[in-house]
Amino acid sequence: MALPISFNFDNTLEKAVGNEGLRPQDLKTGEGFATAAVQSFKLRVESGEIGFPVLPDDTATLRAVQEFAHDVRGRYDDVLLVGIGGSALGPYALDVAIRGPHPVQMSADGKGRLARPRLVVLDNVDPGFVAAALGQLNPKRTLVCVIAKSGSTAETLATFLIVREWMYAGAGRRARGQIVAITDAHKGDLLEIAKEERYPLFFIPGNVGGRFSVFTPVGLVPAALIGLDIKDLLKGARDANKVCWSNDMKKNPALASAIVHHALDRWQEKRVEVVFAYSQYLWGAAFWYRQLWAESLGKKVNRKGKVVEMGQTPVAALGVTDQHSQVQLYMEGPRDKMITFWEVEKPRVDLKIPKDLTKYDSTKYLGGKKLGQLFRAERIATEAALTEAQRPNCRWTLRSVDEYTMGMFFQMLAYQTAFAGELFGINAFDQPGVELGKQLTYGLMGRKGYEEFAKGLKRP
Ligand code: PA5
Repeated sequence: MALPISFNFDNTLEKAVGNEGLRPQDLKTGEGFATAAVQSFKLRVESGEIGFPVLPDDTATLRAVQEFAHDVRGRYDDVLLVGIGGSALGPYALDVAIRGPHPVQMSADGKGRLARPRLVVLDNVDPGFVAAALGQLNPKRTLVCVIAKSGSTAETLATFLIVREWMYAGAGRRARGQIVAITDAHKGDLLEIAKEERYPLFFIPGNVGGRFSVFTPVGLVPAALIGLDIKDLLKGARDANKVCWSNDMKKNPALASAIVHHALDRWQEKRVEVVFAYSQYLWGAAFWYRQLWAESLGKKVNRKGKVVEMGQTPVAALGVTDQHSQVQLYMEGPRDKMITFWEVEKPRVDLKIPKDLTKYDSTKYLGGKKLGQLFRAERIATEAALTEAQRPNCRWTLRSVDEYTMGMFFQMLAYQTAFAGELFGINAFDQPGVELGKQLTYGLMGRKGYEEFAKGLKRP
């Protein structure tokens, strides 16, 4: 199968970046560990502990989501998503990838000038932001997707209470049919609320954590509602499954990437990964990935219970924009980084730079060339400059940005993260570090049972 995605790590090797790069024996060691990493992850999937790899085969959910989206098509101007973290970043990334960056989107088929319905993501409790968003929407023409796997996330439920009141005030009794809830099938207050108020419900499997849930209804429902082809999306993910179980890093880009990340962290102390997305359409995906990598690998203890306090810090950068903001640091700053370029081969459209103002040196050489050519040249130049400065860098290349390719890319990055977790010996699928902050917030906000946590803190 010819993949529309490839991973190239030539510029992480000693022969490209000298002492800062990976030696042949580093890769050999990584390859040695890789078989065990794939095997131990496979056991976790086969035992049912981890569920993301099997999501693309869930045709019943695909059909149910497609039917729901079909039934409501044309009735809404806006889809208002209330959720946070893994319950928001996937849908946002898909929207930006396929319809383009906000606020200059095209319709999903690329023909319409305005993308409708818009996807408005309320993933912050900054009151000004929430008020401004609601101020621009018409409750009668809005479909609300409230998403929380736990069913109890403070930010999501607080925002939902405000949105729910706004919907009932503006759309009256019809509001109930305009709210869809996406949560765990068996537990949580959101499930109870949805049942009591009779909202349409979709479920997130218990063995799929938030940041791995883009192919559950968390990603599928909003994506289908805004007109994305979720069948193609899942096909891409399914085709990723066909290569991602291979022990051979030459055949499995996700495994190759995990080995390279692990080796650069372990042998070269590259504790920061800069994801340099050379596509405005991949900017949402860079934020999705930032959560995936950070929350999965940033851990205090390893799987044997030993304190390790490890994890590579992901930084999202946008090419070419951040060449004028970050590259100085990446070229000359601390040698604690690896750079991962995300490149797209075929731009959706290209523009010709007019042959105008030719008497000036700074415009003459540009005239008659394509803007896409400049875009590519800048990525090539940045990569070459970083390599010259002995800064290890690797590259994912996507043939294009469409549903199929994004499905494959998201799934490969999820596998990469799972394999990296196994290589580092940590559990990539929990997030104990966010609990204390949540408990302190509950205490400060007066939630029953959390009074002790707020002691000594100044109440807001
Ligand atoms: O990846 C995760 O598990 C987290 O980032 C969650 O997605 C996030 O905390 C939101 O949780 P919930 O869906 O329960 O509101």
